[in-house]
Amino acid sequence: MTSLPAELSKVVDVEKPSAARVYDYYLGGNCNFAADRELAKKVAVALPGVNEVARINRAFLGRAVRYCVKAGIRQFLDIGSGVPTVGNVHEVAQQLEPSSRVVYVDNEPVAVAHSELILEDNDLAEVVHADLRDPRSVLESPHTRALIDFDQPVAVLMVALLHFIPDSDRPLDVIATYRDRLAPGSMLAISHVTDESLTEGMHRLVEYYASSANPVTMRKRPEVESLFSGLDLVEPGVVWAPEWQPEAPESVGPAPENSGIYAGVGLKS
Ligand SMILES: C[S@@+](CC[C@H](N)C(=O)[O-])C[C@H]1O[C@@H](n2cnc3c(N)ncnc32)[C@H](O)[C@@H]1O
Repeated sequence: MTSLPAELSKVVDVEKPSAARVYDYYLGGNCNFAADRELAKKVAVALPGVNEVARINRAFLGRAVRYCVKAGIRQFLDIGSGVPTVGNVHEVAQQLEPSSRVVYVDNEPVAVAHSELILEDNDLAEVVHADLRDPRSVLESPHTRALIDFDQPVAVLMVALLHFIPDSDRPLDVIATYRDRLAPGSMLAISHVTDESLTEGMHRLVEYYASSANPVTMRKRPEVESLFSGLDLVEPGVVWAPEWQPEAPESVGPAPENSGIYAGVGLKS
């Protein structure tokens, strides 16, 4: 991406890397700027498998969405949805169940603008420009109110999002606000980077992201489990991302810890 439409150039700082655009670069997209690519390349030196890590995370997202559809959920709130890429939530869900409704939420203007473009012709999916930490702006947005019926089960997705929320922003309280709004049968899917594996590389990643728009907080497995407070973890609990309900045993691979990502799904009873 080399230039921005006029209305975006007023609100986007292309000199400051953003998690949305750096992740887009890891996934082979072209919705990123020189500063994003520079950060991504530094991370790739410290963590040579980072592109694969992003793909593993995306694959978890797909499995979690399919799991929720198979459990009967028809509404998705994908917070920190990112720049649209392969396997967007509405594509995965609507392929299995065409009536599935999806609200995407992101606080990054480029991600939101691209989502608006690809959703133009889809009446059952919308994007909201809002911040996870301001639940009212997410839950009371006209798009959310139009597409999501909170009296029915909803799948809330916070995939590769919560490591951008420091403890000082009280992530447990933020999550509780969403959880309390959900009907029984709703689910919360979370993935989260950790320095419990790939420790050196992950510490470099934290260092490099510190000056980006999205500094990173690493969490250990018990801390990731605590993000599901008030929910029942579905099998197999919080595990390395490739281990979460793999499509086939062999797809886990010999070293799932090399994903550097914990993943899980919680059910509201
Ligand atoms: C690494 S991307 C993950 C995208 C997608 N969920 C996935 O896992 O493939 C993280 C996304 O979270 C967004 N994000 C970070 N902090 C956020 C916040 N406080 N509110 C909403 N979105 C946020 C970023 O802009 C970025 O698009």
